[in-house]
Amino acid sequence: MTAVPSPIPPRGPATPPTPDAAPLLSVRGLTKTFPVRQGLLDRWRGQPRAAVQALTDVQLDVRRGETLGIVGESGCGKSTLARTLVRLMPADRGSVTYAGTDVLALQGPALRRYHRQVQMIFQDPYSSLNPRMTVGQVLREALTVHRLRPPHEIPARVTELLNLVGLPPEAAGRLPHEFSGGQRQRVGIARALALEPECLIADELVSALDVSVQAQVVNLLLELQTRLQLTVLFVAHDLRLVQHLSHRVAVMYLGRVVEIADTETLFSAPSHPYTQGLLAAAPGLDPTRRRAQPAIVGELPSPLRVPSGCAFRTRCPHAFARCETERPELRARTDGQQVACHLDTPPLPEETRTARP
Ligand SMILES: Nc1ncnc2c1ncn2[C@@H]1O[C@H](COP(=O)(O)OP(=O)(O)O)[C@@H](O)[C@H]1O
Ligand SMILES: [Mg+2]
Repeated sequence: MTAVPSPIPPRGPATPPTPDAAPLLSVRGLTKTFPVRQGLLDRWRGQPRAAVQALTDVQLDVRRGETLGIVGESGCGKSTLARTLVRLMPADRGSVTYAGTDVLALQGPALRRYHRQVQMIFQDPYSSLNPRMTVGQVLREALTVHRLRPPHEIPARVTELLNLVGLPPEAAGRLPHEFSGGQRQRVGIARALALEPECLIADELVSALDVSVQAQVVNLLLELQTRLQLTVLFVAHDLRLVQHLSHRVAVMYLGRVVEIADTETLFSAPSHPYTQGLLAAAPGLDPTRRRAQPAIVGELPSPLRVPSGCAFRTRCPHAFARCETERPELRARTDGQQVACHLDTPPLPEETRTARP
């Protein structure tokens, strides 16, 4: 089977606006587990309580004005990360810093301000839109509640917001069910933009849409990001869309970030064996960029039993003794690339390696 050429071009050279400036959003050691309900028998036997390890020591910087893609197989913790960042879900430990403030400690008015600055946009805006409110009412409410415009300016601002997302002014009079999936996604984006956010977090924004509509919504996001200088976290499992939209990409595996790199570098010279396997398995990537790597073998381990050391070692073609005992830290490999893999760090002397259990 020949690879289908990608109709969606990759984003140009990866030059996020201010590569050296302090990051807008900075995540360190972020960890989140979900305890699993224990059966009576297990409790009676004194079995330790099991927990899903959804995020483990996640480390990530998002630069102001960039689009950072987050990819990884289903269940690797992408949505948990997004929800934790917008405080929809508490973390077990770790820190999130936004423009210098400690996000996990925010309360009251400061938390409300954060909720306005960082907007999450969802896969299915239908579930979060009141079916009885017209789009105009939804937008007017957002503008009024947050006192973003004096009353006499609100109608013009509603039209402006609709225009920004490519909807006609008449859309204001319609109810959510009168729109197609792609249009509803535009309404969701308009509602988020009404609050004049600095940062958008899009979790599988277009995954439920037809491919042709996906491209339109993604292009809208691209245009808005550039025009409004938004910082965007684009969470998706479709590598082509991520490549098209992102300045940089973070790859997650079983709750950990295993590689972060400029989009260009990640797709042309992936460093982590998991990234290499993910790209090899992706349909429709530019065939000249695809490497002669085998796709990933074996099953994704259960997040209840994350392998010791490097979580990917059970599926890694290059795993050696050290990978079983020592977790690789995320380290800078080159300027634009951070990797968590022992293959990229100086190996331990042979004696130490074999002496380990
Ligand atoms: N509310 C929850 N309760 C229990 N387990 C959860 C919950 N949310 C997510 N998980 C588990 O956490 C892991 C990560 O899930 P998620 O963040 O949704 O991954 P992704 O978005 O990458 O598919 C999965 O094993 C999932 O089953
Ligand atoms: Mg998800």
